[in-house]
Amino acid sequence: MFPGLGREWPHVIRRRPKVVSVGRLFGSSEPSRLEPDSAFVRWGGQEFFDRLVERFYEGVEADPLLRPMYPEDLTEGKVHLALFLAQYWGGPRRYEELRGHPRLRMRHAPFVIGPNEADAWLRHMVASVDASGLVGPDREELVGYLAMAAHSLTNSAL
Ligand code: HEM
Repeated sequence: MFPGLGREWPHVIRRRPKVVSVGRLFGSSEPSRLEPDSAFVRWGGQEFFDRLVERFYEGVEADPLLRPMYPEDLTEGKVHLALFLAQYWGGPRRYEELRGHPRLRMRHAPFVIGPNEADAWLRHMVASVDASGLVGPDREELVGYLAMAAHSLTNSAL
């Protein structure tokens, strides 16, 4: 089962060493506790994921294959994806609070996702990661995860 997509959720925060408040790091009043060495913290917190998703959605909006799969109003989808990714990479558990267990395979079941759709989705994500300035092993880790996840959510041969 691919992490984050199946039964093993949640799994990111395995250790509980030093804790740090989001408020101190990001100027929010939220009293969540985060691992200071998580990717979430290293990459820039919620803002990093918000921007990643915002750029990704610019690609989706202009994509004739993907755009029709998404609802007219993209606002909520953006929030859900950004909160999911943030939580996956060690951020606060806001996605789960808002949406419950991710069950991504189930949530994507209404959409026909063949190799072309998965490729298009991943292409927009990789373009957005590259625009984020993330480099080296961090970039490889994020892109590797997104590629695996896109592949695992493919639910149609065509
Ligand atoms: C493989 C190609 C993919 C396609 C075509 C696709 C398409 C979609 C669509 C159409 C929605 C609904 C958006 C809305 O209701 O506003 C959605 C939601 C979502 N997708 Fe994907 N997706 C793909 C891959 C992924 C991957 C790889 C991830 C995770 C890494 C992901 C995470 C999510 C999340 C978290 C949501 C929101 C779920 C919720 O309603 O709480 N998707 N996706």
